[in-house]
Amino acid sequence: MRFQDQVVVITGGGSGIGRESAIEFAAEGAIVAVSDIDLATAEGTAEEIKKRGGEAAGFALDTTDPDAVTTFFETVEKRFGRLDVLINSAGVREISPVIELSYEEWSRVINVNITGVFLCAQAFLRRLVAADKKGAIVNLASTLGVTAAPNRPAYVASKHAVVGLTKELGLEFGQSGIRINAVGPGVTRTSLTERYFQDANMAQTIKSIHAMNRWGEANEIARAILFLASEDASFITGTTLMVDGGWTAGRTM
Ligand SMILES: NC(=O)c1ccc[n+]([C@@H]2O[C@H](COP(=O)([O-])OP(=O)(O)OC[C@H]3O[C@@H](n4cnc5c(N)ncnc54)[C@H](O)[C@@H]3O)[C@@H](O)[C@H]2O)c1
Repeated sequence: MRFQDQVVVITGGGSGIGRESAIEFAAEGAIVAVSDIDLATAEGTAEEIKKRGGEAAGFALDTTDPDAVTTFFETVEKRFGRLDVLINSAGVREISPVIELSYEEWSRVINVNITGVFLCAQAFLRRLVAADKKGAIVNLASTLGVTAAPNRPAYVASKHAVVGLTKELGLEFGQSGIRINAVGPGVTRTSLTERYFQDANMAQTIKSIHAMNRWGEANEIARAILFLASEDASFITGTTLMVDGGWTAGRTM
């Protein structure tokens, strides 16, 4: 039980990687504050945890709203008495060539994928520093945080920014006992990517990008997130761990 009685906050916890991580943290003893812009899905994850005998509560949180973010972390700390781990999993993606991408679409992806990560990290860190506490943050970057793919200009830019922000925070908090890392998933089957799998040709192409010739499952990403959040990763900060079946190792011939 690596997280016994620790309070773990998850953004975007109503679906996919965030949901799976919430379930795995609870199974290792954590009290999980599951947040999502969609309250019903956050509550759904919390209910699933409780059904399995764990402790959790669902919260509505739009990570791009600075005041809501501040209030949320205050509420969680008051309710559960402490904060230990933050997982920034809320994320969105556009698929559009550069010249067709609207300002609104660009702004939405940048706001959720990098500004939201910054706001939540800042609010969490402020509270830990004020309480003189140790802790950990794990951000969701992507393979597209270290390499590019066509038709995803805002997503690629935002995930490169997550990798950069993770380094910056790791440096700034290096001596504080608070570690900040990221994971870089390859294609993982969730509602974000479900449409890839509706088309057999596309599914085959997706597989072939990865050296392991398959896509990932959300629990495989969650296990890496738990590792980085745990004492097993006690000498790791400011880094992005690729969990990508070999995608970014290089191209197959
Ligand atoms: N699935 C993949 O292949 C993959 C690959 C690399 C990185 N990622 C990253 O992993 C993270 C999780 O992705 P996923 O596949 O689980 O997606 P998902 O769509 O299943 O879950 C994302 C969740 O974020 C929530 N969300 C969106 N905007 C929000 C906001 N403003 N405030 C709060 N919550 C918000 C959504 O409601 C949803 O529940 C994302 O950051 C994504 O970019 C996913």
